[in-house]
Amino acid sequence: MKFFIAGSTGATGRHVTNLLLQQGHQVVTVARNTAALNKEISLYPQLEVKVGSLLELADDELDNLISGCDGVISCLGHNLTFKGIYGAPRLLCREAVERISRSIIRTRRQHAGKRPPTMFLLMNTNGNRNRDLAEKLSAGDRLVIGIVRLLLPPHRDNELAAEFLRKDIGQNHPDIRWVVVRPDGLVNIDQVSDYQSFPSPVRGVVFNSGQVSRINVAHFITTMACDASEWQKWEGRMPVVYNAE
Ligand SMILES: NC(=O)c1ccc[n+]([C@@H]2O[C@H](COP(=O)([O-])OP(=O)(O)OC[C@H]3O[C@@H](n4cnc5c(N)ncnc54)[C@H](OP(=O)(O)O)[C@@H]3O)[C@@H](O)[C@H]2O)c1
Repeated sequence: MKFFIAGSTGATGRHVTNLLLQQGHQVVTVARNTAALNKEISLYPQLEVKVGSLLELADDELDNLISGCDGVISCLGHNLTFKGIYGAPRLLCREAVERISRSIIRTRRQHAGKRPPTMFLLMNTNGNRNRDLAEKLSAGDRLVIGIVRLLLPPHRDNELAAEFLRKDIGQNHPDIRWVVVRPDGLVNIDQVSDYQSFPSPVRGVVFNSGQVSRINVAHFITTMACDASEWQKWEGRMPVVYNAE
């Protein structure tokens, strides 16, 4: 299979990239700092890396990367620096999701012929609610998330990115089917371990929250992308993922 990955140089995106390459899949990506992928470039001839910044690519450059992909995976996130959090682009994830979606639609419609809709897997946050399920937060979590939304622009960006897929693309789009993955607090562990996924949070999102390793998130994402039964289980939903206790 062929996948486009946004955020392949990030802590989770690199795991996603490696897991797909190890399984023999073709991966295309765009990276501002290709040195971060030097090891993968030397090991895997089926990896194609375009130098650049996703939001600055021309439409036809993006279309060339996305054309023919079975799936698109975004692990983009704001760098945790003052500039990354408060500087431009404030809506990195939201703009990327819309640009990628429009590119999928354009490229699929240029090439007549029946292909299943392209899968779009978006890494998001468990601080975001799935409005389809009328999820409720505890009073404490609601207060903290409200403050985070006001003070930290990346949180609102994550919410808007997921809302684009949930509302604008919706459940029956002819070209795109999606899953929004909501990890709990991210930690770094080298090996895949047991983890659990649920349609909605089973713990608090701030108070009494849990953890999940980035490699487990990557494993969950790549399993859905490559295994039709796992994909069907979560398509159009916003699973929350935790390390097993
Ligand atoms: N921290 C947590 O506990 C937590 C919990 C749940 C969810 N999340 C969410 O999970 C996502 C990924 O997290 P992570 O820790 O794996 O991310 P990360 O290591 O910070 O990686 C972020 C990726 O986004 C890219 N990026 C950042 N700014 C960019 C820009 N302006 N233009 C183009 N690319 C840009 C980075 O590229 P460069 O390498 O070029 O900078 C990198 O590839 C984030 O959306 C985060 O909000 C985090």
